Amino acid sequence: MTLPFAARPAGFEEMWAELLPVGRSASSGGYRRHAWNAADAECRAWFEEQARSRGLAYELDRNGNQWAWLGDPQGQGAIVTGSHLDSVPDGGAFDGPLGVVSSFAALDELRARGAEFSKPLAIVNFGDEEGARFGVACVGSRLSAGLLTQEQAYELRDANGLRLPDAMERAGQDPSAIGADAERLARIGAFVELHVEQGRYLDEDQPVGVAGAIWPHGRWRFDFHGEANHAGTTRLVDRHDPMLTYATTVLAARKKARQAGALATFGKIAVEPNGTNAIASLVRGWLDSRAADEATLAAVVEQIHQAAAERGERDGVKVELVRESYTPVVDFDVPLRDRLVAALGGAPVLPTGAGHDAGILASAVPTAMLFVRNPSGVSHSPAEHAEVADCLAGVAALADVLEDLACQ
Ligand code: GLV
Ligand code: MN
Ligand code: MN
Repeated sequence: MTLPFAARPAGFEEMWAELLPVGRSASSGGYRRHAWNAADAECRAWFEEQARSRGLAYELDRNGNQWAWLGDPQGQGAIVTGSHLDSVPDGGAFDGPLGVVSSFAALDELRARGAEFSKPLAIVNFGDEEGARFGVACVGSRLSAGLLTQEQAYELRDANGLRLPDAMERAGQDPSAIGADAERLARIGAFVELHVEQGRYLDEDQPVGVAGAIWPHGRWRFDFHGEANHAGTTRLVDRHDPMLTYATTVLAARKKARQAGALATFGKIAVEPNGTNAIASLVRGWLDSRAADEATLAAVVEQIHQAAAERGERDGVKVELVRESYTPVVDFDVPLRDRLVAALGGAPVLPTGAGHDAGILASAVPTAMLFVRNPSGVSHSPAEHAEVADCLAGVAALADVLEDLACQ
């Protein structure tokens, strides 16, 4: 089918400029686009507008993921591309949005080339990829793939105690039918997510690479229960200070990860009552850990837990461990990966320690990823960056890949 060209849509740089101010903190320069908040709503409105301005069929699925369809949304073997628009707290501009903006730009490029599509093509914005608000990453894709149940999702709460379904409702999304969407995923022939690279695997000659695998990773919550008391009157020997147990656990995490060639990070804590002159009653620390294989990851987390429990024994602090989310190792579909490499004339294949919706979808759909060079390797920070020329190389690469997949 040949497609009519709608009125000239916004180009890559124009779309980029439109999104740039949305949800950016004036004080940090970082983004605070979190699931179902006001900035997220603005990003969603932007997505819908991009879809409509291109004459694409717009759809919001029951898990809060947005879709823009070229061709029949009910058709079989659809080729899907896209990413996410939400961010980590004070995140960068590229993680997520680069994939969504590049998808619209790649579609425009294909139309300009006069491409004839033989399969439906969709652009998707998966909701709540970063899990910044409710603690679990990739909520939208995880629900669709049946890797997070409605019951589990209904239990998730943000830092203010607001439940996920209530936050959805407040944002105008009906949460009553969230859950596995196998029928939708069965209609997808392939999913390709373009993403900013988050390490420094791409060298001077290579602006674009193809993903090989994602390390298994997860999030664990450690609760250190101590005893609140007066900072000025309680003798050191009489204290049950969970901050000590927590501090020892952080150091143990670093050591165990180093010894195993893994990664372990405490990037978020909550302290009660959180007073300078009070010994804490509770320290809650969230561990993010990743490793090349699942056995190593399990061993590292177990060793950290053991170190925490041992120190807790000494401090008179009870330690509880809860696994909040987990993604097994993802080996992307090899024939699809090789097809992308060939379509790009031999692009390099890279591993990544970062999680992605593509990693979740890989459990149900042939899935691949493209990475666009990030000169500093910095990500999840306002310093995250990619040069415009590399972004445009990414758009061209995505267009080549989509043409190969959707126009045969
Ligand atoms: C998502 O970006 C993650 O790797 O946590
Ligand atoms: Mn991210
Ligand atoms: Mn991302």
